[in-house]
Amino acid sequence: MRSAANDLKRDDASAEQDLGLPPGAFADLTSGRRPVDWDLIGKAAAVWPLNERDLLPIHDDCPDGVRVHRLADSVASGRTINRGGSPYYEYRDTAMSRVASYRPEWISMLRVVEDSDPDNPAVEWNRGHLLYQFTYFVGPVNYYYRWEGVSHCVEMNTGDSVWGLPFAPHSFTSRSATEPAYILALTYGGDLLGDAQRELSVLGPRKARALALPAEQAALLRSFAEARLLSTEELARRAKLPAPYVAQLCAGEAAATGDETAALADALGVAVRELLPTRIGTEAGVHLAYRAESRSWELPEQGRAAYRVTQLAGDPAHPHTTALEVDVLPAADASAGWLSTYQHQYAYVLGEEPVELHWEHRGERRRERLEPGDSAYVLPGTRIAFAALTADPNTAGDADGAAARVLLLRVGGATTTDVRFALATIPGDGIERYLDEDRLWFKSDAAQPGAAHPDAAQPGTAHPDAQESDATDLESAREH
Ligand SMILES: [Fe+2]
Repeated sequence: MRSAANDLKRDDASAEQDLGLPPGAFADLTSGRRPVDWDLIGKAAAVWPLNERDLLPIHDDCPDGVRVHRLADSVASGRTINRGGSPYYEYRDTAMSRVASYRPEWISMLRVVEDSDPDNPAVEWNRGHLLYQFTYFVGPVNYYYRWEGVSHCVEMNTGDSVWGLPFAPHSFTSRSATEPAYILALTYGGDLLGDAQRELSVLGPRKARALALPAEQAALLRSFAEARLLSTEELARRAKLPAPYVAQLCAGEAAATGDETAALADALGVAVRELLPTRIGTEAGVHLAYRAESRSWELPEQGRAAYRVTQLAGDPAHPHTTALEVDVLPAADASAGWLSTYQHQYAYVLGEEPVELHWEHRGERRRERLEPGDSAYVLPGTRIAFAALTADPNTAGDADGAAARVLLLRVGGATTTDVRFALATIPGDGIERYLDEDRLWFKSDAAQPGAAHPDAAQPGTAHPDAQESDATDLESAREH
């Protein structure tokens, strides 16, 4: 409420007037002395140019930094879903959080086929879905996918994986009536969900189509030039390039060199990276990764490794998504292998062996034993490590020498690279205020006692991480 009122340049008295509140009520609301109820949120959304959701915080269901999801809870969540009138999949939930947009399901294939024909009538195709999908295969699973009207089928086995684009129809079946055949289907929306989707739904499909950027520099050049009302001649003058050549670049009829791209970025007043198109590596909408061809390496380094890591399916178009198989080596102890990332993180214990998950959150170190089939969600920035539970390095381990195997999926959240750059530009205690605005944007006079720091005396309202900061009151320096 305080942040929204500040953005709209309302002090307590003017906010109270807008919202029909008695004097002093706004300070009670922003300090937590008086609850913000639905009526008030509705009123604010009616009189101020904002949406109800702008005033609603998200639920923190991960106060310990990690949410562990047990196999028994996954089994209890099981739903068998029919396709074409008979059972096709059993779905089970695994670890997820309200903080992250990914949706990880364990899915067992109940339809058994005897061939790998994409046109087999026993295969029930879906209509595709919005979310991107990373899939990890266990057992003899057939994967079907359709792109531009052409149907494909590939035979997948344990350790194979695939990454797929939204809205492409797909299906899965089993090639064996006796062996287990299942997948871990990790779907996520990335930047497509949330604010972008809501904004585009207001603009409508026509404008959304016009906003779609092909992965070409020419499209970026045209978009920035248009935004800046720059003619081709003016852009060429600024970049010190011949105008007909710049026209060719903008039409996609020529390719700029690195130096020319830098000159054009300078001319447009943007960072060079704004003129670099994304790279999409999918073929027929998917990126297949077969385990036998996948790259593996040891971590922290060969010779004294805690883990052997194998790269799974992904795509350059999603640089903030990482899928990995992590073999926890028998000698591994937690201190050898701390892992950290800016991404939301999902871990699922594959195979037959348990593993110990260690983590550090808000200065506290914790650990939890994870059994096969257990999974965990880890908040961004939470250091984790896996430790082998088998005591003797000589007798422990599977044929590959691993004590346990964990599937890791890491997905970027709403804190994009641009947001992270912005965080680095916020001075002083600005980050605390960005997360939890606690004061008026200017120092009010004595007529409003305490209004400048209405929460200052309220214990328990500070952000849990606040004690880790060295916040100083720079308010007077920031008045404007
Ligand atoms: Fe799917």
